[in-house]
Parts: sequence; C-alpha cells; structure tokens
Amino acid sequence: MASLSVIGAGYVGLTTAACMADLGHKVVCSDIDRDKISLLNHGQISIVEEGLAELVAKGRESGNLSFVVGAESEVDRAEIVFLCVPTPQRIDGSADMSYIVAAVSSIAPLLKPGCIVVNKSTVPVGSTTVVEATLSRGDILVVSNPEFLREGSAIYDFMHPDRIVIGSDDQGAAIRVASLYSKINAPLVTTDPSSAETIKYASNAFLATKLSFVNAIANLCEAVGADIRDVILGMGYDRRIGFEFLKPGPGWGGSCFPKDTQALVKIAEEGGYDFKLLKGVLSANNEHRDFVAKAICDMARVSSPGPAKVAVLGLTFKANTDDLRESPSIEIALKLAKENKKVVAYDPTITPKILGRLNQVVDQDMNGPAGSIQPELVRLIEAGVELSLDPYAVCDRAHVVAILTEWDEFRWYDYDKIGKSMASRAIFDGRNLLESANLKRLGFNYRGIGR
Ligand SMILES: NC(=O)c1ccc[n+]([C@@H]2O[C@H](COP(=O)([O-])OP(=O)(O)OC[C@H]3O[C@@H](n4cnc5c(N)ncnc54)[C@H](O)[C@@H]3O)[C@@H](O)[C@H]2O)c1
Repeated sequence: MASLSVIGAGYVGLTTAACMADLGHKVVCSDIDRDKISLLNHGQISIVEEGLAELVAKGRESGNLSFVVGAESEVDRAEIVFLCVPTPQRIDGSADMSYIVAAVSSIAPLLKPGCIVVNKSTVPVGSTTVVEATLSRGDILVVSNPEFLREGSAIYDFMHPDRIVIGSDDQGAAIRVASLYSKINAPLVTTDPSSAETIKYASNAFLATKLSFVNAIANLCEAVGADIRDVILGMGYDRRIGFEFLKPGPGWGGSCFPKDTQALVKIAEEGGYDFKLLKGVLSANNEHRDFVAKAICDMARVSSPGPAKVAVLGLTFKANTDDLRESPSIEIALKLAKENKKVVAYDPTITPKILGRLNQVVDQDMNGPAGSIQPELVRLIEAGVELSLDPYAVCDRAHVVAILTEWDEFRWYDYDKIGKSMASRAIFDGRNLLESANLKRLGFNYRGIGR
C-alpha cells in the first residue's frame, strides 16, 4: 500500500483517487476549487459519472481517501504524486501547460526526497522534462502515465484498462508506479517518457480519425443510397477494423479529442512534420457539424418556410456524462440559432438547480463569472437558446426534433405524443437511435445519418 497524492479532482483526478483508494492505497486528493472539495467532504460529487459517488463514499469510509484544498496540502506525506490538472488548448492549438507548471511549482519545495511525480494529464511530448525542470529537485523522478479512461465509464476503464502505459528512463521508478496497479490485470507497456506521451496523443488522434472516417462514409452512404448501419456491420466484423468507434454522429467533441488532435498537429509542426492527415480529420469534423446543422435547417424549411422552431434533444458531447466541453450538440444548437431558428433544448443532466443558477448568472450579468455553471450553457443562453427540463415541452410546436446525443431515454419517448404536439412531424436523428420505420409509420419525416 502506497501513500499517494492526486492533484486535481476532476474527471481524471477524482476517478484516479477513488480507484487507487479502492485498490488499497492511502490517497489524499486535492483541488484548488474550494466548492468541489467542500462537496466531496460532504459526500457529494460535482460530476456525473456512474458509480463514482459510491466509490468515493467507500474510500472515505475506509479512511483510504480524503480531500483537501490546494495541491500543497499534505503533499509532503506522499510517496507518489499524480498530476491530474487540465491541459486546455491554447489559441495556437498547442496544449497549455500552465496548470501543470503552477501545480508543480507549488509542491516542489514540499515533496519528500525520493518521491515520484507522475504525469497523468495529457501533456505534449517532452513535458516530463518540463516537470523535471520546474521541480528542480535532483532527488525526485518524473514518470509519464497517461490516462485512457472514457467519461461515462471512467471507473470501469480505470479498473479494466486495455493497457497501462508507463514512461520513464528510470527502471526503478517505472516499477514503483507499475506496482500501484498490481491488482489490475492489464498489459503493461513500459517505455521512455516521450513515447508514453506520444502514445496518448496518437491513440486519441486515431480514434478521432476513425470517427471522422465513419462520418464521411455515412455522408457517402447518403449520396449513393447505401445504409450506413449495414455498411458498419460488414466492416466491423473484420477484426482489423472492429465495431468500436464505428458509429456515425453529429461530429466528435468532448474535452479531449479536439484539443488533443489540435495539439498533435502542433507537436508535429514543431518537430518539422506536416501532419496533413490529421489536419484533414479536424477540418472534416468541422465540415460535418456544418453538414448536420444544414440538414436540420433543410428539414425545418420543408416543415415551415417561415420561422421555425427546432427542439434539440441532448447537449452533452456523448451520453452518460455531464461534460459539455466542445460538444457537437452545443455547436450545432448555436449554428441553428445563428440561422434564426428558435432553438429549445433538453438534456437529462440539466437539473432545476443548474437552470436556477444559470438564470441567476444571466440575470445578474451576462458577462459575469459563471461559477460552477459550465460556460457552454451561458453561451447557449446568450445566443437565445432556451433550456427546458421537460423533453415533451421542448418538442411542443417544434417543426423539427433533432436528436444530437445518444442518451438511451430518447429511444423510449412516446413519439406519437410528441408528434401530436409538434407543428409538423419531422425528426433528425443525429445518432441513429430510432427505428426509422416506426417513425415513418407515425407520419414523421425522418432523417438519420447515412441511411
Ligand atoms: N476527461 C477525460 O475523459 C480525460 C481522459 C484522459 C485524460 N484526460 C486528461 O487529464 C487531464 C485532466 O482532465 P479532466 O477532464 O480531469 O479535467 P477537469 O477540468 O475535469 O479537472 C481538473 C481539475 O484540476 C483542478 N486544478 C487545476 N489546477 C490545480 C492545482 N494547481 N491544484 C489542484 N487542483 C487543480 C481543477 O480545479 C479541476 O477540478 C487533462 O490533461 C485531460 O486531457 C482527460
């Protein structure tokens, strides 16, 4: 059992802390966000992630998991420190290392000799050296251990990873970090820090490419009269291709793929390599969002040559998370509003509390700090998009319903009831969630992706 410090209590940090505590380690998890830590110390978590609240409670009860404000707190006890702070995209596309540098600077004088600092944040190639330089401590080693969890299944992914990647030039340090995962049965890839950092970016860029590819094939299917669902079946059974990430949608997004693909383009550029393929993937994704927004507008125009209302179902970048960062649904809702559509949106993660807080923020000062409110929601409100807690009310008098996130509940709505309340029966199914035949039987003008 090791004594660990996890810096950052977001999706990755909180999952890492709770899972490491469950694996038997003694974990202190810190964050600079006082509200987040206060909630955690009251047994609540501020993000939607299946099973995480229960695992955090279990960790606190066992005494293996505690939460503190500030990276410096109790870090002097740690044998191993995990950095799980954000690395957002800078204006030029590169990854912003300032959170890493700030966190490392604050803990550097406090760490005990022989401690290991582990980079779990997604960081550009060469960042291990940046952390070493910031630490400026010859007695402390830095190891790269990128995280591959997916929001929505974060705990499962952490506990059942496809692989664990550890990058270090020091074999002893690599073994110490690897031993933290000794109860997890997964292939271990040990390598140098630059390769570990590249593995993370290359993996995300590959998955983004796969998604853009299947979106392009879906568009092709529409053009030539093929059905993407059958095409996927035929492709996915090929084990070299597989079914994972072979689902068309309104474009990929989230807190990782967009920034990590941009960052890889930048990393390549700095290394003297023009990564044209990945640049193409990025622009294909932007074009695909435009394509989807236009398809919805076209449907609205058929339903109503004049002003039209679009009901957007789903705002998160995928189902089973509350993360709105770089969500294609948000971008498409904004595009629709820009095209003068009246947009009303529903997402299962928007609670009365969030809506109340959002209204407060907007009433007080449109440009003021949004506090715990995700900025994407403020952007929507600023653009005139309305939010509602009732999916049926959202569809009332709508000319088109646009399903943009694959929340399972959307499958089970009473579409006949919805149709009766709509101004005209039209559905754009951006996730191919619904059976087109059923919708057509109910008199809907139905359009999916690639069918
Ligand atoms: N979210 C994912 O699915 C995912 C998956 C794999 C890797 N990653 C990477 O992991 C990193 C973290 O991502 P995330 O989604 O967990 O971010 P997040 O924004 O959810 O959480 C980061 C947390 O770090 C805190 N923080 C910032 N500076 C701090 C400091 N000095 N001391 C203590 N806490 C501090 C923030 O307050 C925030 O709570 C990023 O590099 C990301 O690319 C994310």
